[in-house]
Amino acid sequence: MKKHYLIKVVRMFFCVMFIWVALEYSENIALADSKGLKGFPDNAVTREALQVQNRGCNSCHGKSMTNNLEKFKDGEPKLHIMAKTGYGKPEEIGHCLNCHQGFPLAGPKLAATIHTMHYKEKTAFQGDCFSCHHIDNKGNYVMWDDIKYELEVYGYSGYDSKDIRPVLDKWAKERGFNKGNQLGFTMDSALKGDMTFSQDVITPVKDIFAMRNFGTPPPMKPEDYLLTIKGLVNKETKYTLNQLKNRKQADSYLTHMCGSVKPGTPQIANLKWSGVPLKGVLEEVGVKKGADALYIHCYDGWEYTVPLVRALNPRSLLALKVNDEELSDWEGGPVRLVPMGGLGWELGLRIKSIELIDAKKQKQVPLAIAGASPEEPWQQGIGPNSGFLAPDSGTRVNQGDPVIIEGWAFAKGGIDTSPISKIYISGDYGTKWRAFPVKPGDPERWQYWKFNWQPPGKGTYLLKVKTIDLKGRMQPTKSSYPFMPEPQLPANLVITVE
Ligand code: HEC
Ligand code: HEC
Ligand code: HEC
Repeated sequence: MKKHYLIKVVRMFFCVMFIWVALEYSENIALADSKGLKGFPDNAVTREALQVQNRGCNSCHGKSMTNNLEKFKDGEPKLHIMAKTGYGKPEEIGHCLNCHQGFPLAGPKLAATIHTMHYKEKTAFQGDCFSCHHIDNKGNYVMWDDIKYELEVYGYSGYDSKDIRPVLDKWAKERGFNKGNQLGFTMDSALKGDMTFSQDVITPVKDIFAMRNFGTPPPMKPEDYLLTIKGLVNKETKYTLNQLKNRKQADSYLTHMCGSVKPGTPQIANLKWSGVPLKGVLEEVGVKKGADALYIHCYDGWEYTVPLVRALNPRSLLALKVNDEELSDWEGGPVRLVPMGGLGWELGLRIKSIELIDAKKQKQVPLAIAGASPEEPWQQGIGPNSGFLAPDSGTRVNQGDPVIIEGWAFAKGGIDTSPISKIYISGDYGTKWRAFPVKPGDPERWQYWKFNWQPPGKGTYLLKVKTIDLKGRMQPTKSSYPFMPEPQLPANLVITVE
């Protein structure tokens, strides 16, 4: 019971770690944004019946909804925990709900706060319930941004059923809708073009996402930094930064993802880390028999455990650099732990001490007990996931121009990691999926893919992506991991060819 509760706290809490980079405080609310159709085809259904132009958080807000939130804190302005989405993508409600599920420390349920913020007296908000919501086929208020690219948005379900589809297609065609579907998207079931893959594409530092629960560690002089290795070791040892810098360095290429995300999240990064292999340090201090986990303490207060077997993996590092740049305070420098195979919360910022423990005998439970027990569900991983990186949804291209679509696929499998084996793209609401097989590679790095698509003609297309791993696990449509907010619908990309 108690453990279960803790697990929830911990999971919600820790998308922690990507801490990065200069924040841009852009203009806060760009109401002017709201007039375009945001990539939807322009027709009576989208413009008049559904009013897609006035709906969704981003129709009023610019790229960020949290930049302004420091006004909710006392004293000096502080950043909201969701500090930065990856790849300069706008914040979306889906990125908020992975934390804001009402677990202690992970953020309150958003409904009351967001309703009040917009409906309190004298607010500039001029929308209504349907600015943010849609009512689904079961009559529930759902978030418009979650469901807007699903067919049932226009009130019909079962479009993908073989019996219903021809009837609806005929109905829609008779009323002049493009190629048969009510929203007017042009269907492309063939998806001509080839796909290439790479695991070596690195996320530039400026595109790395940032989420943190303990803020930025305050500035620290390099000479003040000290790392202690203690607990079940033969020789408790302290290392200065210089001692670590003078040791043999190694590089480790790893993909990291927030542990609680929807499909298509920009909270993913493939990085080159450089630093001191943890294995050598652990061998030097001598790990005693019985130790099976590392209990990590960070200078900012964050603590968690990592299983010893993963810490001993040659790819696990005490990282001093990311993409060849020294880690700043903001990035959790000077020394950050990068264990092979962990989710975001295991990338502790500014490591203070590493305590070797026997997890079964551990009395004091660290906040994140994630690492200790391989039986825990999140140790089984969070399932295959995939998304689009470029171009931005809503992009317009001229007919005949090459359309190069970039994206990623990754299965963060925990102890059970398996490489991605296929990427699937659909251009017809998921009725058909074209499979692009990929030679299984390193499971700890993403499959970055480039699809050189030849659209069949003019129109506004809606593409979807999903993926499968070598063990045959398909990207889940229901959350396979307790932190992930529902629904788990595949990521969408809208492109207009004109
Ligand atoms: C129709 C336009 C509109 C829509 C749609 C909208 N907002 Fe807002 N929002 C506003 C305005 C205007 C304010 C400023 C309210 C005030 O006067 O204090 C605001 C304020 C906020 C704030 C307070 C911080 C700030 O930036 O001032 C948050 C957080 C927020 N909105 C989140 C959301 C989320 C999440 C959604 C989607 C679920 C959403 N909004 C949808 C117009 C909108
Ligand atoms: C990584 C977790 C996380 C993410 C992601 C996140 N939040 Fe938060 N949020 C929190 C936590 C924790 C708090 C509690 C207050 C604090 O210490 O900042 C909070 C506080 C807030 C508050 C003030 C609530 C109140 O009643 O005081 C608002 C509003 C808010 N968040 C909106 C958002 C929006 C909108 C998004 C998405 C764009 C978002 N948050 C994404 C964790 C998160
Ligand atoms: C500015 C955006 C916004 C507006 C406007 C808005 N809502 Fe919401 N609503 C939200 C958010 C955000 C949630 C939280 C979703 C979640 O936690 O999954 C929510 C949740 C809900 C829920 C589910 C509550 C629950 O138990 O989780 C209902 C019902 C709801 N809203 C009804 C309404 C109604 C009725 C209106 C109009 C009077 C309205 N909302 C206007 C943003 C909005």
